[in-house]
Amino acid sequence: MIKPHGSDTLNPLYVADDAKRAALAKEAESLPSLLLNSAAAANAVMLGAGYFNPLKGYMNLADALSVAKDLKTSAGLFWPVPIVNLTKDASVKAGQRIALRDPNVEGNPVLAVMNVEAVEAVSDEQLQFMAKEIFGNLDEKHPGVKTFLSLGNTLLSGPIEVLSYSYFQSEFPETFRTAVQIREEIQARGWKKVVAFQTRNPMHRAHEELCRMAHERLGTDGIVIHMLLGKLKDGDIPADVRDACIRTMVDNYFPKNTVLISGYGFDMMYAGPREAVLHAVFRQNMGASYLIVGRDHAGVGDYYGPFDAQTIFETRVPKGALQIEIFGADNTAYSKKLDRVVMMREAPDHTPEDFINLSGTKVRAMLGAGIAPPPEFSRPEVAKVLMNYYQIVDAGKA
Ligand code: ADX
Repeated sequence: MIKPHGSDTLNPLYVADDAKRAALAKEAESLPSLLLNSAAAANAVMLGAGYFNPLKGYMNLADALSVAKDLKTSAGLFWPVPIVNLTKDASVKAGQRIALRDPNVEGNPVLAVMNVEAVEAVSDEQLQFMAKEIFGNLDEKHPGVKTFLSLGNTLLSGPIEVLSYSYFQSEFPETFRTAVQIREEIQARGWKKVVAFQTRNPMHRAHEELCRMAHERLGTDGIVIHMLLGKLKDGDIPADVRDACIRTMVDNYFPKNTVLISGYGFDMMYAGPREAVLHAVFRQNMGASYLIVGRDHAGVGDYYGPFDAQTIFETRVPKGALQIEIFGADNTAYSKKLDRVVMMREAPDHTPEDFINLSGTKVRAMLGAGIAPPPEFSRPEVAKVLMNYYQIVDAGKA
């Protein structure tokens, strides 16, 4: 099986031993507390779950700047996005052991315990430098830039021990899985070659066929559909609805035992190419040999070129830095001529009219009005789940 990133074995930061975890939770009650923002909490969950192997905690300023600029830490570890705990709280001192509290769970329980190695002031220029490198722009209308620039100017770094998976385990018990669990599941199924599919959407026909094409062309034993369960921008579809759509689609249209449906606890950054590389790192950690990267992967609006998230693997990822490989896919759509979903570059004789291409806005309007998009765009069973959801949303607005 493919090795984790940067080490021979996966070293998740969740304290798995019940007695040790209970002792740590008890100690945490008497430690000084820091209420995390959602981005730092999501980092802790990913570190806990083994997805961010081999990191041991939050990066210091030198590492964060180096990762933002050169995609590697000061020690030379390849890493695409700073994993930071930025805060507005000025009370924490270097050398302290502190309890990190969860902003996303009622009562703010302790999510992790941190040994604070350094407390560093980050200037606005440094924050903007990092944002520009990560997101490729400084437009405050970009949801990722807006969040990143609002986190605070104090950077806390140091190792953490994780006590819970926040709301992900309780809200998505059937879907949230750690990198450790996915590795175990892949092994239990006897899969040797696995392709991972990143998604933050309900899966329409294009998504479904991308998975099928990658699976067939790469000759993989299985597909891991790995959905984001954390926070999204307004208007994106909530995780439970997407989860229901994906399960419906897989049950109806994939042979049994070819797909593992799972999810991870992280907030969407909308960092396009950089996020695609982060996606590759944590899919390698969960045991996938390939990651599908299609059109405008992890993008938003028009901030990135449609295939920037593929070319970055050639331009910014040194050979050998990652073991996982990319399945780069062209724009995929239903061909009326061929009566199936194709990659557009593989149908050179087609004109735009030969494809069924619906805008997100149009599909949204149809679903809200209780009209199913054509079956060539969305499976009827999936459309039904979405129509129910949007009718409730729209009724709430009326
Ligand atoms: S993402 O933010 O998670 O990338 P989404 O769930 O829509 O968004 O996409 C999941 C994956 O499918 C990404 O790799 C994306 O590039 C790819 N994808 C989605 N729609 C298409 C399409 N029509 N053609 C090609 N690739 C697509």
